[in-house]
Amino acid sequence: MQQLNVAVLGASGWMGRVHTMAFQTFPHHFGTQHGTARVAALVSRDPQAVAFRAPGAKLLSDWRDAVNDPEIDLIDICLPDNLHYEVAKAALLAGKHVFCEKPLADTAAEARELADIAKAKGVVTRVGHAFPRNPVHDLAKEIIEAGEIGEVQFFKGHQHIDVFGDPLAPFMWRADGDLAPTGIVGDTGSHVFSFMEFLVGRVTSLVADNFITAPKRPAIEGLEIGQTAELSKDTPMADVTNPDGTALICRFENGARGLVDFSRVATGRKFMQGYEIYGTKGSLVYTYDEINRLRFYSNDDKPSRRGFRAIDVGPEHPNYAAFLPLPNFALGYNETKIIEAYEVTRSVLAGQQMWPTFENGHHICQIVEACMTSSERQAWVTID
Ligand SMILES: NC(=O)c1ccc[n+]([C@@H]2O[C@H](COP(=O)([O-])OP(=O)(O)OC[C@H]3O[C@@H](n4cnc5c(N)ncnc54)[C@H](O)[C@@H]3O)[C@@H](O)[C@H]2O)c1
Repeated sequence: MQQLNVAVLGASGWMGRVHTMAFQTFPHHFGTQHGTARVAALVSRDPQAVAFRAPGAKLLSDWRDAVNDPEIDLIDICLPDNLHYEVAKAALLAGKHVFCEKPLADTAAEARELADIAKAKGVVTRVGHAFPRNPVHDLAKEIIEAGEIGEVQFFKGHQHIDVFGDPLAPFMWRADGDLAPTGIVGDTGSHVFSFMEFLVGRVTSLVADNFITAPKRPAIEGLEIGQTAELSKDTPMADVTNPDGTALICRFENGARGLVDFSRVATGRKFMQGYEIYGTKGSLVYTYDEINRLRFYSNDDKPSRRGFRAIDVGPEHPNYAAFLPLPNFALGYNETKIIEAYEVTRSVLAGQQMWPTFENGHHICQIVEACMTSSERQAWVTID
């Protein structure tokens, strides 16, 4: 059995916590035949505060110390968006395998450069687009690839939250164009784009309209996503300098059309995600509210029996069976991150790339960038 030594960067944040748990947990579900992982280093501004999460791990406050540590095999980047490129590039040049949270980079050119360096170095890469790794989406892919819905003609997708729905919801790095230059587009749009990349194919052109609903928000230190605080008349205000939401129309390489919307200001939508995929012979519909259920319509059914059937993904799928012996007990968000950690470990130890690599991350960054350009120019943008 082989073991992968992982350094988690941004260990005290949300993703740092989830990734640390996922690397430690996956052998309970998937066994050890494809190897295990050890969180060998935690990198955080205050690593002592999270030391309890990985006893024995090195506690580092500078990510460069992890990148230059010969004991570390995999650099796991859970830092704010603006650091992804710089840290991933340094890690790749040091010969490390890299697992980077989404979006891979702030620009398509940076993402391209990272994918090229990774290829030249021969290392394994992975972007943290975990939502499509819920086995229900493997089922959707299987149905599409078997031709059961015919040619895909139309994709309709969305993702909304309401953390910034209230105009007085506090400012955080996510709303800062320096720390998250593409705002909701790279943050949430990239999730919808990862479903598009996984299930439909590459996007060749789009027109997008980005918007900001509240240009200033109260700046209160130390709040995390979803937290609120009492305001006083002295509370300083900060400028929101990246998009809160986007609506877009796109075209895919295979001729399909797309209609997509996402935002962080959809009041009342605590977390809403879904897609509809219409083909020449059938269709698929998915909503996060029924996270393990796929609705499938087929023209092959007798006309008098036609209608959407609800399929609960279950233990027929190995990534479901790893957790639960019965369908509809439901895998959630953290399980997809555990699947992801298992796949990352397995692919690094076997030296085989698995979706989504930095190449896929680059495609998704191209869509993000095209949204920013299109909205600024108020025009269709072509993607190479
Ligand atoms: N795949 C997903 O579903 C998903 C979900 C949420 C966030 N994300 C992505 O994960 C990344 C992190 O998001 P988060 O929600 O965990 O953010 P967060 O704010 O909770 O955590 C970020 C962490 O990075 C640390 N940090 C910031 N600058 C640092 C530096 N220079 N050196 C060391 N540590 C530093 C912060 O102290 C914090 O612990 C973002 O890129 C985000 O887009 C992905």
